[in-house]
Amino acid sequence: MNSNLLLDNPRPTVAAPALRTKAELRSALADARRAGQTIGLVPTMGYLHEGHLSLIRAARAECDLVVMSLFVNPTQFGPGEDLDRYPRDEERDLRLAGEAGADLVFAPPVEEVYAPGASTVVEVTGSLTGVLDGDPQSRGPEHFRGVTTVVAKLFNIVGPDVAYFGQKDAQQAVVIRRMARDLDFPVRIEVMPTVREADGLAMSSRNAYLEPADRERATALSRALAAAERGACAGSLSGGLGAARRELEEAGIEPEYLEARDAETLEPVEALEGRPVLVAVAARVGSARLIDNVLIQPSSNSNFDSPNF
Ligand code: PAJ
Repeated sequence: MNSNLLLDNPRPTVAAPALRTKAELRSALADARRAGQTIGLVPTMGYLHEGHLSLIRAARAECDLVVMSLFVNPTQFGPGEDLDRYPRDEERDLRLAGEAGADLVFAPPVEEVYAPGASTVVEVTGSLTGVLDGDPQSRGPEHFRGVTTVVAKLFNIVGPDVAYFGQKDAQQAVVIRRMARDLDFPVRIEVMPTVREADGLAMSSRNAYLEPADRERATALSRALAAAERGACAGSLSGGLGAARRELEEAGIEPEYLEARDAETLEPVEALEGRPVLVAVAARVGSARLIDNVLIQPSSNSNFDSPNF
């Protein structure tokens, strides 16, 4: 690809070009970097929805050059998880990414990211990666090891000034922030709000797995979080969690976890005590494993006061 194209025509309204190799990407970014342009990175596994597009738009608004990565990262999927059936539609993704403001898409094959014999990992140790999704009863810490390894590699390959992540995957965002801080990556991490369907369901590529009846039941997750938040804001986090549990029960959903934790340290909390609290839920609904969360600020209005509720 002619890298001058990026400088001359930085805002394609058509499909973003896909680059397959690290070498192509580095040469496409070299001129922009030399010219002092800022680079924004939006890492994704594709099958884009409005949640992903909100990250691209945020990057477009703040950075000179916007790179989206599209890579279904095998190392973050455990045995028996959905790597093989993870939904994919690259042509549509390139069009949507371009329309939302991505200048280019890094969409490498697996061999380009993991050379044969690759044996180095990046791991955030301790409780951040051992609870919630990192609990061995859940996806386990290996999931986050896969995420941090690939995100560290993407940071090294792209060299972004800013990288954009979604609050939808709250624990992932906390873990990536910790990795970037601990390993001195010169990148600012931005975490953007969860984008929801009109009925409250958090957008997710995995919603594609939901049969119509399960799609309806899945709305109980956001109702449960709204109930937890109402309880917490009314002075009883534990009452709120009880109400949340009942919402799930009524929909026939048994949560894998439903927990309140400090939003930064992920330590368990019993009450709102002047620090932001994350209430996070994971549940299998039909053949989809869904996660969602609400971030409760010590003295804020409800996150669920939008017209969607
Ligand atoms: P993926 O699930 O494709 O999500 C890519 C980014 O979009 C993540 O930062 C995620 O939090 C954000 N996102 C997903 N749904 C969202 C929603 N409803 N609202 C706002 N943001 C949303 O997360 C991954 O991919 C991977 O783990 C990755 C970071 C790319 C590493 O492989």
